Amino acid sequence: MSILIVGNILKDVYLNLDSRTEHLETDSRNTNWLDLSFNASEHHFYNRSSNLGGATVSLEVLTKLGLEATINGSNLHLSADGPTINGPAETYRYILLADGQPCYFVPTSYKTTHFTPTNEPYDYLYIDRSAELDQASASRISDYLSSNPNTKLIIYLRNPNNRYLNSLIPSADLIFLEETSKSLTTANPTSPEGTASTDLIPSDIKDSHKLVLISEHRLSCQNISEPLSVDRIDMLTHLSTYSIASATILGCFILGFSIEDSLRLARANLENSKLNSSLGLDQLQTLIANTATDNLELIARNLVLYPKGILAADESGGSIHKKFDQLQIPDTYKNRRDYRNIFFTTPNLESYVNGIILFDETAHQFADNGQNFVDYLTAKRIIPGIKVDQGLEKFSDSLPPQYDQAQDYHPEETWTKGLDGLSTRLQDYYQMGLRFAKWRAAFEIRLDDQGNILTPTDTAIKINCQILAEYALKCQESGIVPIVEPEVVYDGYYNIEQSAATTSKILDQLFDSLKQSKVSLPACILKVNMVLAGKKLETRSTSAEIGQATAAVLKAHVPTDLAGVVFLSGGQTPEQATDNLAEIIKNGPFPWPVTFSFARALQDPALYAWQGDNHNNEKARQAFLDRLIANTNALSSNK
Ligand code: 13P
Repeated sequence: MSILIVGNILKDVYLNLDSRTEHLETDSRNTNWLDLSFNASEHHFYNRSSNLGGATVSLEVLTKLGLEATINGSNLHLSADGPTINGPAETYRYILLADGQPCYFVPTSYKTTHFTPTNEPYDYLYIDRSAELDQASASRISDYLSSNPNTKLIIYLRNPNNRYLNSLIPSADLIFLEETSKSLTTANPTSPEGTASTDLIPSDIKDSHKLVLISEHRLSCQNISEPLSVDRIDMLTHLSTYSIASATILGCFILGFSIEDSLRLARANLENSKLNSSLGLDQLQTLIANTATDNLELIARNLVLYPKGILAADESGGSIHKKFDQLQIPDTYKNRRDYRNIFFTTPNLESYVNGIILFDETAHQFADNGQNFVDYLTAKRIIPGIKVDQGLEKFSDSLPPQYDQAQDYHPEETWTKGLDGLSTRLQDYYQMGLRFAKWRAAFEIRLDDQGNILTPTDTAIKINCQILAEYALKCQESGIVPIVEPEVVYDGYYNIEQSAATTSKILDQLFDSLKQSKVSLPACILKVNMVLAGKKLETRSTSAEIGQATAAVLKAHVPTDLAGVVFLSGGQTPEQATDNLAEIIKNGPFPWPVTFSFARALQDPALYAWQGDNHNNEKARQAFLDRLIANTNALSSNK
């Protein structure tokens, strides 16, 4: 991930006033004056020191976060002793310490920042707080962005009146806006300064998590806010404070953190770092999350953040083959990549999904820009996950290795394969950047002639739940958040009460097994079916019944310390799945976040629009976007 910083290199010179007062001039009212003529002899001052600031601060922070950054056109070098520059800085600022109080002497205008054209394709171009663009540099940046359409633009807006910078705003992927005390607050909405600044920001940026407000007292983004109390005795100047905050948030944005965690990490950096020695990601994460488990909890929380869901794009080779076959789409490696690419390149996807579950093959495929899909999604701040089970095996064909004595199962019942070599696979996936996993166990409700429940049997429930617990523990040991998915398959003649009874029984056994295996629930997510009558039953359950029954089962059988609950769609139509999700939400509040993790209900309309022909990509993306919008709207049904 490469970042090109556009900004000025400043030098902050710290001066201590000599206590020998004969250098001060006293006026007729007995006030002492110091003639600050910096070219004059230096004997007024002692303990002089200097620090590089401005764009250098962004460079230092981003580099410490493990990212590759350079300042455009500079010959600045970072070493263990801090940054050094060949030649003079663009601008000098003076900080005078008198009686322990800092006084700032800053130029009334900064030197214009020139953008030196480059042929190198950077992933991000960051116009930082110190930049002073003129028409020529802004248009060179525009030209660069036109010839490098994959480069994302990030802008720090310090001065809302720079019209050259403002012309770049609509192309920005993230904007930092400096909040002045009287502007931008709802307490003073008519403030000309405030309205002028936010009015410049297009509403799609303002309404998403792409506008971050920065002030001395807080960092905020939409309704998320992180208070600050920055101790500036350490000679952090205003500008450096803001630069550390914005560069940390930018780094976290690139690394795929949620905006909530990015603000927390920025605050930790500000409150604990010194100028030109900011903290590394590990140190920051340790500050906000003390143990490895806490890191897992952080990821788990980020996966179920309101108001977004998780896309399940993890159909196995067999499932995707069936789907393609129905539409006579050739099941080739390229078509499978192109199909997944449609979803991942849907504009603004990160506003609707926190994470995406991939299939192993997809995790090794590449986006159009040459990045592998895992890095591509991470850069979009979407957490990539992976399906790690290896499908279903009938009890009649074989028993799981540790259960060769199992009895009382129905021969058609299944158990889920994949525990062999799982730890090694999980470690490899972690190295690839995958941060969560999914494992599906399937249970069918079969009825006898009298309509009584025959399956799932206690044996099948117990074995599958123990396997799920073993998988979940292995995930957590490998730094991966487990999604446990015990699915009651939406097929058969059972009624909604039988669905509720079966789902409840499975959940009781599942949480019992997770507890026995010491799986950490705050770092674990449940993926579950909605409670509803089987597809073959003539009388379908209504959305109101489904909402009420599902909410009741979950509230009674899911422990409150679980990270979250997500729903599969199970073969309902996309509209049914959305309507039913909305009804479930209406029956909240719940002790954990609740959201969607659909595969078919999110993707099927796009598959039909695509038909295997990339000329239909735009139509397919629109069909997908329609489902994303409908489902994220459903999440606010009880608001
Ligand atoms: P559906 O939403 O199509 O049921 O798929 C969800 C899933 O991930 C099943 O494992």
